[in-house]
Amino acid sequence: MKRKAIYPGSFDPPTNGHLDLIERGSKIFDELIVAILRNPEKDPLFSVSERRQMLESMTGSFDNVSVDTFHGLTVDYALRVEAQAILRGIRAISDYEYELQMALMNRKLQPGLETVFMMPAARYSYLSSRLVREVAQLGGPVDCLVPDLVVQKLREKMDVANRFGDAVARAPESEARVVDRAAKERKTKSRKKKS
Ligand code: PNS
Repeated sequence: MKRKAIYPGSFDPPTNGHLDLIERGSKIFDELIVAILRNPEKDPLFSVSERRQMLESMTGSFDNVSVDTFHGLTVDYALRVEAQAILRGIRAISDYEYELQMALMNRKLQPGLETVFMMPAARYSYLSSRLVREVAQLGGPVDCLVPDLVVQKLREKMDVANRFGDAVARAPESEARVVDRAAKERKTKSRKKKS
């Protein structure tokens, strides 16, 4: 039987730590699905489709890795795609309590599904998506923390945020909103000039 696992998460944005774990996971599982949670309650920096594009590009060289999105319970998704395991990364002892709770709850919900923990390389043990977002938003360098493609996408986001405000940059449908907002701003300016 083929060993299939899902690697669920928010990936907002995907980091070098995620990539490190994907590489390790791809070596012990025959098939690995990186599964992005579609969570309408969260206010992400990157839309699900942006995160999917970044992850697809980052994992393109792994033959046995694919990227998907899901909503609802992780265990239900795992069952749907016939995975036997959930892969999660543990960076430091501080991750352990939350991960243990989640793993035990998932086991309660679906006893046949195993959670497999792996440690990313020690050099990524301090790295998190939240800190990457914070450093990028405050203008710090993130070059060694995320792949080049993500650095570029973060720069684009920050440009939009600087020009039109954080809310526009964050909105999933940001491009449409930016165009809309820019058009409104131009209208207001031309009205002010006329009056
Ligand atoms: O990258 P994250 O934010 O640490 O990932 C957390 C994630 C997506 C794995 C977790 O929030 C999750 O599994 N959410 C789906 C809903 C669910 O199954 N909840 C019960 C988990 S015990």
